[in-house]
Amino acid sequence: MIELVNTSLKYDKENAALRDVSFRFEKGSYHYITGPSGAGKTSLIRLLALSHPPFQGMVRFMGHPVNYLERASLIPLRQKIGVVYQDYRLLPHLTVFENVALPLRIQRRSNKEIRNNVEELLHWVGLGEHMHAYPLTISGGEQQRVSIARSVVTQPRLLLADEPTGNLDDAVAQKIMSLFEQLYKMGTTIVVATHNQDLITRYSHPELRLNKGKLEKVSPAYLKLGER
Ligand SMILES: Nc1ncnc2c1ncn2[C@@H]1O[C@H](COP(=O)(O)OP(=O)(O)O)[C@@H](O)[C@H]1O
Ligand SMILES: [Mg+2]
Repeated sequence: MIELVNTSLKYDKENAALRDVSFRFEKGSYHYITGPSGAGKTSLIRLLALSHPPFQGMVRFMGHPVNYLERASLIPLRQKIGVVYQDYRLLPHLTVFENVALPLRIQRRSNKEIRNNVEELLHWVGLGEHMHAYPLTISGGEQQRVSIARSVVTQPRLLLADEPTGNLDDAVAQKIMSLFEQLYKMGTTIVVATHNQDLITRYSHPELRLNKGKLEKVSPAYLKLGER
């Protein structure tokens, strides 16, 4: 599905945020990215989201090497990727409903389909009451749920989530994780950066650990799978 080959990422001349990372995320797999703050989790999500170019090495998505592609050729590839950003990135001048509807509007889906899908999803994440509110008038946890609804509304082939349960109470966090499980069972490839060890234990999937920009450890569960 998506592969990193000896990939490094730099924001400035001196320090590499990621160093020589190689890993292939197979189609239909589910991985966690863990590691201390500053380890490079968000940077890895940016590479996988095709939103930041590598400094060295390459990223290959669905068979396409994407390093040197023009912006215009990235657009159709990016449309297959859903991203939950750590800082939500909601559009403040659009209602909750319209924020979630936006990816469907870009795909020119019918109004009826948009209304049905968006309403159902917003009810499911517990935001039915806030559909017509603006993002800045709801809480951080609610904004996070809007961002999660927006990322899955197009049923992306690859779903990337950067600390998606960071601001959610336990019950809502579990609901979001079980939504990810359902998408995984339907064939979506999933990558979740998280600190939440409880959730990793409860919803068990292979874990990639980053430390100071290096890929340090792949969990034993994954190694066993690899040996088969
Ligand atoms: N936009 C940016 N500009 C400059 N440096 C950044 C930027 N984003 C992250 N970094 C740096 O890159 C390193 C990895 O950060 P990040 O990927 O955000 O780690 P994590 O998500 O694991 O906390 C850190 O040293 C951080 O300060
Ligand atoms: Mg981060």
